[in-house]
Amino acid sequence: MSSDISDFDLLAIGPGFIENPYPTLHVLRAQSPVHENPDGSVFITRHADCLKVYQSRDMLSDKKEEFGRKFGQCPLYEHHTTSLVFNDPPYHTVVRKLLASAFTPRKLAEFEPLIEDIVTRLLDRAEDLGEFDFIEHFAKVLPTEIISFMLGIPEDLRPKLRGYSLSILGALDPEVPADRLKAGNEAVAEFAVILDELINHRRANPDGAKQGEVLEALIFGEHDGRTLTQEELIQNCIFLLNAGHETTTSFVGNSIAVLLDAPGQHSLLREDPTLIDTAIEEFLRVESPLQIGNRLASTDIELVDRTLPKGTYIHTSIAGANRDPAVYDDPDRVDITRKPNPHLAFVTGIHVCLGATLARIEGRIAVGRFVERFPKLQSAGPKSLVPLARFRGYASLPISIR
Ligand code: HEM
Repeated sequence: MSSDISDFDLLAIGPGFIENPYPTLHVLRAQSPVHENPDGSVFITRHADCLKVYQSRDMLSDKKEEFGRKFGQCPLYEHHTTSLVFNDPPYHTVVRKLLASAFTPRKLAEFEPLIEDIVTRLLDRAEDLGEFDFIEHFAKVLPTEIISFMLGIPEDLRPKLRGYSLSILGALDPEVPADRLKAGNEAVAEFAVILDELINHRRANPDGAKQGEVLEALIFGEHDGRTLTQEELIQNCIFLLNAGHETTTSFVGNSIAVLLDAPGQHSLLREDPTLIDTAIEEFLRVESPLQIGNRLASTDIELVDRTLPKGTYIHTSIAGANRDPAVYDDPDRVDITRKPNPHLAFVTGIHVCLGATLARIEGRIAVGRFVERFPKLQSAGPKSLVPLARFRGYASLPISIR
């Protein structure tokens, strides 16, 4: 990485940045912590600044204007502008309150036996395989099963979910080629037909809902006398399905990839399985599944030595914040005992990840049990990343446990 960062443009990053963004983020943080992109937006890489932006009530998530320019009127625009994550109060509050009832710690604890069962089944299969793609045969299965269960997605449709997710979330990257836009639009359109049918079925059969089903809470729940329209239900269910499995797949996959590259830490976790709680926080910190967020300033905001005017579009580097030497000693070193670990993988503020507790339960059980059961862990071929800047996870991760 050249030390001259002045011409860095987040909207024109290449495959080198996607492969390994961390050296560039270190240079940006040191030399240009509030970096202006040629389009006038800024990219911030310091932990304190990201925290300030996420904690401020004056930083907006509504993206109707930006997505209008980026997508035009199309299914992707409809989807992203209706999901809670890209909205502000009061609409955001209504959807969040309805969803929150399905994500209480007590409700989530009910999922632990189901998670243990799925993980045991996956471990048995992994043992039979010996050498396999960890993403295909392990990491993606658990989160897909859990979120599908919560939304009542039938088994035959589940294999399609990751493809839909990657197409829809891929359209959020800073740069989006035309073929990716097309794939994203097709995925939203197909997914919407499926969700429309499922929602209608649940409306007609309210008693058929399984315990813990979030779909039921969304359809029949109301906040301040407001229920969600069919379109709002469809788009928020699509969002929940994507949010609920893609990031968690990456979390579990990235954790094993980190351990492959840090055999000393792998041995330490095997010797002391009680380290799993601090270990998963460290995996979330060093390889955050969501690397870049954004907000629109609705008032002037002071960051470092500058005042950004109202209307500035701010890209937050979650990955940069999580390796800020002002917060972390030796930030590129993996240390599964690290404590405190105030990483921003789930961000903070009113949009703080609603599924963080669920993701942590899934990660703790999936990674913990895997390491306990298989003392040997080796690479079985070249791994490949999903080629996106905003989301970091592996498309394939061949490993051997023999
Ligand atoms: C390790 C896995 C996960 C990571 C790293 C992650 C990360 C995030 C982040 C960074 C946000 C905030 C986005 C923003 O405002 O810019 C977010 C929001 C959200 N996440 Fe997660 N997430 C994960 C797993 C999950 C799971 C398992 C679910 C649900 C089953 C979920 C549901 C949500 C929802 C509903 C929101 C929107 C919250 C709001 O706008 O109020 N996430 N997530």
